[in-house]
Amino acid sequence: MRKPFAAGNWKMNTNRKTGVELVSSLAEGASDLAGEDVTVAVCPPFVYLESIIKALHNSNIAVGAQDLYFESDGAFTGEISVAMLKDIGCTYCLCGHSERRHVIGETDELVNKKVTAAINGGLLPILCVGELLEERKSEKTNEVVTRHLEKGLAGLNDEKVLAVTIAYEPVWAIGTGLTATPEQAQEVHLFIRNLLSKMYNETIASEMRILYGGSVKPSNTAELMANPDVDGVLVGGASLKAEDFLGIIKASVQ
Ligand code: PGA
Repeated sequence: MRKPFAAGNWKMNTNRKTGVELVSSLAEGASDLAGEDVTVAVCPPFVYLESIIKALHNSNIAVGAQDLYFESDGAFTGEISVAMLKDIGCTYCLCGHSERRHVIGETDELVNKKVTAAINGGLLPILCVGELLEERKSEKTNEVVTRHLEKGLAGLNDEKVLAVTIAYEPVWAIGTGLTATPEQAQEVHLFIRNLLSKMYNETIASEMRILYGGSVKPSNTAELMANPDVDGVLVGGASLKAEDFLGIIKASVQ
């Protein structure tokens, strides 16, 4: 059985005070569910990670970074290594989020290096994949998702790939208020699971969690989660309000 997973991606939002307040409310509100019934993680901006980790000290809510750099140390101005993230107590890391691919210009090759470095350094990567609106309209969704997965997971053996969580996030649904229908989400999630089965094997494909992301709200979580291949949600905007994210956490447990 795959345990549900609700992850919040704060992007470039909050400050130290609002971030700490947010996780304090989450820790209190989700104390009976987090860890036991659902994996809960928040991904704050780098500079607040340590304060958030401290504030979540006695909770079962995990903390992830929004990005990392694949080199271990050296002259890489502005970058943050896996060892640094481990050092302060991070568990997860987003890799290849659509904003990093499409705003910052990350390639599949770079994303692969980040996923690999994360696993080798003991972080659990959440590999984000998903198509642009034009790509969906021209029926290229499967092609794009295949490229993101084949290139993003390149070189990972059976044991390493099990450290990865996949997040399917159609770019046209991110921050737009448009959500993929439960049927659209299930169709792509099943496609991803079948692809993982071909790339690895059926056991591995059945163990890996595939999250949906893109305008997830408390009101649409249950119907998305009702699909057999939707194992959780990656939430942007709605993870910034304690009440909304708590509603999503609760709705992700069925
Ligand atoms: P959204 O963002 O929930 O605000 O659409 C999702 C994401 O980018 O992970």
